[in-house]
Amino acid sequence: MIGVFFKTYGCQANVADSQGLMRYLQDLGCSIADKESDADLIVINSCAIRAKAEQKMFSYLGALSEYKKQKPYVRIGVIGCVASYKKDEMFGRFDHLNFVFGAREDMSTFRSYLFDLITMLETSKQLFGQSPSRVIAPGQDRDIEHLVQTRQQRISHSALQPKPLPLSPVQEITNHEVKRSFINIMTGCNNYCTYCIVPFTRGREKSYSMKSIIDRARREVADGSKEITLIGQNVNSYKDPDTGSSFAQLLKNVAKIDGDFWVRYTSPHPKDMTRDVLEVMAEYKDKLSDWVHMPLQAGSDRVLSLMGRPYTVERYMEVIGWIREILPEATLTTDIIVGFPGETEEEYQGTRDVMEHVCYDHVYSFIYSKRKYTKAYSMSDDCFKEVKQERLEGLQKRQKQICLERNRRLIGRTMRILVEKRLSHGKLLARTSGNVRVLLDGHDELIGSFVRVIIEKAGIANIEGSLI
Ligand code: 5AD
Ligand code: SF4
Repeated sequence: MIGVFFKTYGCQANVADSQGLMRYLQDLGCSIADKESDADLIVINSCAIRAKAEQKMFSYLGALSEYKKQKPYVRIGVIGCVASYKKDEMFGRFDHLNFVFGAREDMSTFRSYLFDLITMLETSKQLFGQSPSRVIAPGQDRDIEHLVQTRQQRISHSALQPKPLPLSPVQEITNHEVKRSFINIMTGCNNYCTYCIVPFTRGREKSYSMKSIIDRARREVADGSKEITLIGQNVNSYKDPDTGSSFAQLLKNVAKIDGDFWVRYTSPHPKDMTRDVLEVMAEYKDKLSDWVHMPLQAGSDRVLSLMGRPYTVERYMEVIGWIREILPEATLTTDIIVGFPGETEEEYQGTRDVMEHVCYDHVYSFIYSKRKYTKAYSMSDDCFKEVKQERLEGLQKRQKQICLERNRRLIGRTMRILVEKRLSHGKLLARTSGNVRVLLDGHDELIGSFVRVIIEKAGIANIEGSLI
């Protein structure tokens, strides 16, 4: 059996793509490996959103070259956002790389490539030392010739037992985990926020058919999934290509699927958010998670306009008002970028003011990272790196206090939670409908079930409770 290891970087769209491919490969008879040393094929799903994510992926890819020397028939490929725009650079830099397949390329072509690759791997794994009999996908896989040329070398290598490389630190001590499914409801983005590379790596926005999404969600629930997350770069502009139905309608239809599971979604755009989405969430609150992620990015109208985000702080606060009115207990999270080119101290304070007003449960905050192809790439930036770092740290420090205050309000409440897995320190990790992390004591049998707890303690990142 061919083992496939996925290393996924970046956002949940990548997680959803990896999950879709895992399903496809499992249908072909492959097994999904937990670590590189059990894999015959390693697929790296890359993220280009910030320079750091890209660098991390490149150093991981570099480390795999040693691994490939020990196990030469292993195939290594990169998919996703970096693969969309750095294909030549990757092939130039990494001899051990077999394929690069960008997020904008046709998935069905990639799936047929994988189909051939798996067939060939099965043969070369069994008959290791003989040249694979077929050359697949000319131009896509350049390892075949190399394999044939270095046959002798490979035979001597085959006598060696590959040393396991500690490439993926294992964080959880149990391999037993709740099943959560990520489903892309659309791909691409038409918004062209001036800092963002996504429209270039993932292409124009395209919604998938509601029928295919519902069918997939049904299948996931039937297979034991307890949490379905619907993913899109801008879910509010979802439009069913067959019927023209909106995101609110899609959400309602997913909520109507029979079974005990939660539905989450990410991310909406403040400019397109409508009350009907929140009303559907309130109407189906047993199924639809009490959590809204509403990216702010910046708390200054001038910066928002430079970012190509067509809303004002006032309009953003109006949307927050709807959320508080329709879903008063909802968890609210956001994305913030500090140090956008030209951001002044006063403008940064504007972002801090919004944080104080909204009291987010969690903030994903980033220093602006300059990305090629984007409009902001050529904007002049007179703000020092150290100042940006200070702004980020100041914001994160304050947000930690706010998180603690928000979490403390939950003490004494009885909440329904979904138990996910056991953590290395021994506690079980669960989440509330609002996506707040809960630690509790209990047996492994609870993993994958909904239980009720009373909340007794609150920290910055977690709350703690006891079963009732
Ligand atoms: N620099 C920093 N953060 C970015 N994001 C997107 N592009 C960049 C960039 N160039 C952030 C935004 C977005 C989140 C997914 O990543 O906040 O909402
Ligand atoms: Fe990037 Fe803006 Fe599209 Fe989000 S909405 S993916 S930040 S361009």
